[in-house]
Amino acid sequence: MPINECVAFVTGANGGLGDAFVRTLLARGAAKVYAAARCVDTLSHDDPRVVPVELDVTDTAQVQRAAALASDTTLLVNNAGLNRLQPALACTEADAARAEMEVNYFAPLAMIRAFSPAMQEGSAIVNVLSILARVTLPSMATLCASKAAALRMSEGVRAELAPRGIRVMSVLPGAIDTAMSRDFPPPKLMPREVVDAVLNALDGEASEIYVGEMAAQIAKGLANDRHATQRQLAGAV
Ligand SMILES: NC(=O)c1ccc[n+]([C@@H]2O[C@H](COP(=O)([O-])OP(=O)(O)OC[C@H]3O[C@@H](n4cnc5c(N)ncnc54)[C@H](OP(=O)(O)O)[C@@H]3O)[C@@H](O)[C@H]2O)c1
Repeated sequence: MPINECVAFVTGANGGLGDAFVRTLLARGAAKVYAAARCVDTLSHDDPRVVPVELDVTDTAQVQRAAALASDTTLLVNNAGLNRLQPALACTEADAARAEMEVNYFAPLAMIRAFSPAMQEGSAIVNVLSILARVTLPSMATLCASKAAALRMSEGVRAELAPRGIRVMSVLPGAIDTAMSRDFPPPKLMPREVVDAVLNALDGEASEIYVGEMAAQIAKGLANDRHATQRQLAGAV
């Protein structure tokens, strides 16, 4: 899809990767970018093509309002995400698993349900997942489960939207250098690298993209020996 004609809608646009999406889309000539954040005061884009939108992605009424406001969207980027860094059993926050499911799974599903009816043929939806949608890091097992659910959901909506010519792309990066992975050891991807990989992939036909060496190696390992790769990750952290 040509980025220089697109009207994009980016959730979590005040954060590391979301902010990079907005800036890169503008730099590549997007016609308009709806920059959505829970608090619009935290957005830092002063380009006239940016339309700030107040949006907590878990708030159904706000999602409906956003979809009505942005009915000209041709590229929906479900970027907002939550990682409470919790294992499945030895968790210190009882509500973490549910909160991650709300933001990482139910919210993108609600966004797609709200936005897709108005989307035209040739439009695209980008779901920012993680390589941890494919494998579990026990120290953040509940995050992995929520991203895995979103990966399955993406496959379902891809099939349903394909006849209308709307593309659904899942993005599976390794660790990115943002607030979310502040304590994760390097090497980490730069947000701009991830965004460039996604926007470049929109020119091709891939429905899943693995960004960076970490994601590529894990995907290769899973293809060769899924159980061995899972055991390796289980021993990592
Ligand atoms: N960082 C990594 O290593 C990494 C790796 C793979 C995938 N990812 C994925 O990349 C995406 C972007 O994350 P990031 O790395 O840029 O982390 P980040 O800097 O922590 O940004 C997360 C963004 O999501 C927003 N968000 C969280 N809950 C929300 C809600 N209920 N409604 C609306 N917005 C909400 C945050 O807004 P507030 O500022 O209001 O909290 C923030 O803008 C996420 O989907 C994440 O899972 C990240």
